[in-house]
Amino acid sequence: MKLVKRILVGLLIVLVLLQFWRPEKNVSTENVVADFEAQTQPSTEVALILEQKCYDCHSNNTVYPWYAEVAPISLWIDGHIEEGREHFNVSDWASWDLEKKDHKMDELIEEVEEGHMPEDSYTWMHGKLSPEEKEMLMAWGKKVRTELAE
Ligand code: HEC
Repeated sequence: MKLVKRILVGLLIVLVLLQFWRPEKNVSTENVVADFEAQTQPSTEVALILEQKCYDCHSNNTVYPWYAEVAPISLWIDGHIEEGREHFNVSDWASWDLEKKDHKMDELIEEVEEGHMPEDSYTWMHGKLSPEEKEMLMAWGKKVRTELAE
């Protein structure tokens, strides 16, 4: 019993100390999706889906839930945000050439179609996309691609 107690106390100390390790927050006071939305013209509904289900990991502004304050969840969430932005960050939209914009929209359609986005770990707390929401996102994505090709 003594050993178990020591291990538990040790774990508790590690957990407490871990709270001091705070990853830098991905937040901005500017409108970090302005360039993206100006060109891609999402409808109000599509813009809302993007805001509620995608921008947290794919823009320079994340709306953090309260549990993101608690390590090690904070570190785990930070990893997803960093990785998501590495692959697709709409806040960099203006710096991409036509080809890259088109390629990213193509990937967006594919990820949504296959049900890969938002990531499963995220949908536990934020909910999945409904079939209608998926349709709306894909239709918008296709329209953007057609317009980019013009
Ligand atoms: C919890 C964070 C998170 C959320 C929310 C999220 N993504 Fe992602 N996304 C990622 C990560 C991590 C990757 C890179 C790894 C991968 O492709 O699975 C990624 C990759 C992508 C890519 C690029 C794929 C590639 O091949 O480079 C696109 C496009 C994308 N996501 C679109 C979306 C859309 C659209 C939504 C909302 C419907 C969304 N994501 C929501 C984390 C997220």
